[in-house]
Amino acid sequence: MEVYNKLLEENKSWSKKMMEKEPEFFSKLLNVQNPQFLWIGCSDSRVPPDVITQTKPGEIFIHRNIANMVVHTDLNMLSVLQYAVEVLKVHHIIVCGHYGCGGVKAAMTNHSLGLINKWLRNIKDVYRYHQTEIELLKEEETKLNRLIELNVVEQVMNLAKTSIIQKSWIHENGPYLHGWVYDLHDGILRPQIDMPPGSRLDHPIFEYDNL
Ligand code: CO
Repeated sequence: MEVYNKLLEENKSWSKKMMEKEPEFFSKLLNVQNPQFLWIGCSDSRVPPDVITQTKPGEIFIHRNIANMVVHTDLNMLSVLQYAVEVLKVHHIIVCGHYGCGGVKAAMTNHSLGLINKWLRNIKDVYRYHQTEIELLKEEETKLNRLIELNVVEQVMNLAKTSIIQKSWIHENGPYLHGWVYDLHDGILRPQIDMPPGSRLDHPIFEYDNL
């Protein structure tokens, strides 16, 4: 059997199993989705958001890219964010990185990797903001994992710098922002930052006054 056919076979047996276990499962989700969470995570196949949080279809709205970045010119991420905040009115947004992230690791090298240089450039900036702290660390792996934590914090800050979040904080008193790092060794999510609605930013220049 071709490997991709296994996916279709597995899908069929899953559908059958769900119908037997919970006959309403599909019809219940047919016309509504009402997730409380937006998840912005890494594309890494080892960090599947619904599996590691044990959430079901309909519970979590998901955007993934290399190294879980919130880039202020990324129309894809911004469209997901706007829809999640303004239409779905999610209560929590989670930016989730993971230790050993290949994207962050690549950004720490001097290798040119083609198109992806432009994406990784955003992580190199995070390194530059925190270089004193990172360069005090001795082991390469420790440096990498600290940059992964700092990157998650920075991306949560980037969310708070969007007019989408600031407007919603003023008019809806939500959503809460969270930054977590997933540990591939034990499957545990480790919180790094929480930003409740109305939190101050790292510099007032990012605060809009006409929302
Ligand atoms: Co990754």
